[in-house]
Amino acid sequence: MTEKKTTAAQRDGTDWQPRIVAFLCNWCSYAGADLAGMSRNDYPAAIKIVRLPCSGRVDPMFVLKSFERGADMVLVSGCHPGDCHYSSGNYHARRKLPAFRELLGFMGIDPRRFKISWVSAAEGNKWSSLVADITEEAYALGPFQEFPKCTAPEKTG
Ligand code: FES
Repeated sequence: MTEKKTTAAQRDGTDWQPRIVAFLCNWCSYAGADLAGMSRNDYPAAIKIVRLPCSGRVDPMFVLKSFERGADMVLVSGCHPGDCHYSSGNYHARRKLPAFRELLGFMGIDPRRFKISWVSAAEGNKWSSLVADITEEAYALGPFQEFPKCTAPEKTG
């Protein structure tokens, strides 16, 4: 069982809780989260899990939509490289998602709000500590205030 952490907001006495959306692959990270639950590991409830077949299925639009709809932080987690149930899905994720994270800054979203991690089905303890760590970081970053608005350029002539 993991040690319960005191969050920054709890220490400050505020009520705000971050909303963290986690896209997990079915075969490893979701099973790892399930193992954490079955092992009665204690981890923050701020995380909302979306189960997908594979981390390679994560479209960057899922991440943007999450922020648009109020997420303060987004996590993508899948099988360790080399262990993907579909052979290469996480290799695609490993290339695509860090490149996408680089672009978040240009869109006015702090890249620290987007996390990528590999958690296997046997790593319930890793899942618990990962969630505790990113929840703590979400508290430190504070609420995601506003999704940047796209404005069409003014028509001329
Ligand atoms: Fe887990 Fe592909 S099935 S990352």
